[in-house]
Amino acid sequence: MTTWLRALPKAELHLHIEGTLEPELMFALATRNGVTLPYESVEAVRAAYDFEDLPSFLGLYYQGMGVLHTQDDFYDLAMAYFARAREDGVVHVELSFDPQAHLVRGVPFEAPFEGLLAACREARSRYDISSALIMSFLRDRDPAEALEVFEQATPWHSAIDAVGLDSAERDHPPGRFAEVFARARALGIPGVAHAGEEGPAAYIREAWEALEVCRIDHGVRCLEDPELVARLSDARIPLTVCPLSNVKLKVTDTLAEHPLPALREAGLNVTLNSDDPAYFGGGMLDNYVACHEAFGWTRDDFIDMTRNALQAAFMAEERREALLERLA
Ligand code: HPA
Ligand code: ZN
Repeated sequence: MTTWLRALPKAELHLHIEGTLEPELMFALATRNGVTLPYESVEAVRAAYDFEDLPSFLGLYYQGMGVLHTQDDFYDLAMAYFARAREDGVVHVELSFDPQAHLVRGVPFEAPFEGLLAACREARSRYDISSALIMSFLRDRDPAEALEVFEQATPWHSAIDAVGLDSAERDHPPGRFAEVFARARALGIPGVAHAGEEGPAAYIREAWEALEVCRIDHGVRCLEDPELVARLSDARIPLTVCPLSNVKLKVTDTLAEHPLPALREAGLNVTLNSDDPAYFGGGMLDNYVACHEAFGWTRDDFIDMTRNALQAAFMAEERREALLERLA
């Protein structure tokens, strides 16, 4: 039934690699690194994944990533994800990671950077999956720290495809991070930012205007501001929407009530993504299938959104052309 959805050459633009940590690997890495988990079993971990909102998820997300210590841990994490992504028919992935969440635990830059970059190289040769790396800043921490972290990452600047902004959105407006995004832009590194997930439409406007981001992660609350919708639509700003994530974090009560159809009807540049698949009940294909079931979208609808993602990806032009041709 879903063979045709699997076959579409999908690009995943909104993925937190730390959010791909399945409970089985969490336990294996805890054993490897001598970390004690507050759970008895894999089933107990899964049972804890019942979230009220974004902050209640983030607590478990930061706790879970506490098992990641070495370069090999990050490599194994990403390779496990790439193997699942391949099964979903994903051909390009933009991995976001949160260096600050590792630095505060005493895990140096080298571990995530070198582990993830090695996995990205391996995914290209083993699975023909291309990738990009997005270094994200935590918006609920000091903007000065983000700037410092960006400068500390200088040896890897050439390996960073974009900077991002994530973590708890409410009461953490994006404009405070204008300086670090400007610094990145001056070095030719574009920006993306989470906005309008739990925060208001005004945060989308602010991320776009003050941070000059080229994509908005989530962005679903833009519908509260029709003038903004018109501007985003005219400018073809991509929204990396994550339907199963939004249901799990109660941005909407059910998928049937999700604003995705309204976003598309408003002419917005919508893409589909999984966000934190290990926590939100599914990867790219699950998100595609769930939308097919909830909205009755046709093959042409999915081709349209898959094309949007390929066009919005940080990807070599030659590869983009080849993948777009496979969609035609
Ligand atoms: N929103 C904000 N920050 C995040 C998320 C999310 O869904 N996942 C990981 N960090
Ligand atoms: Zn996200």
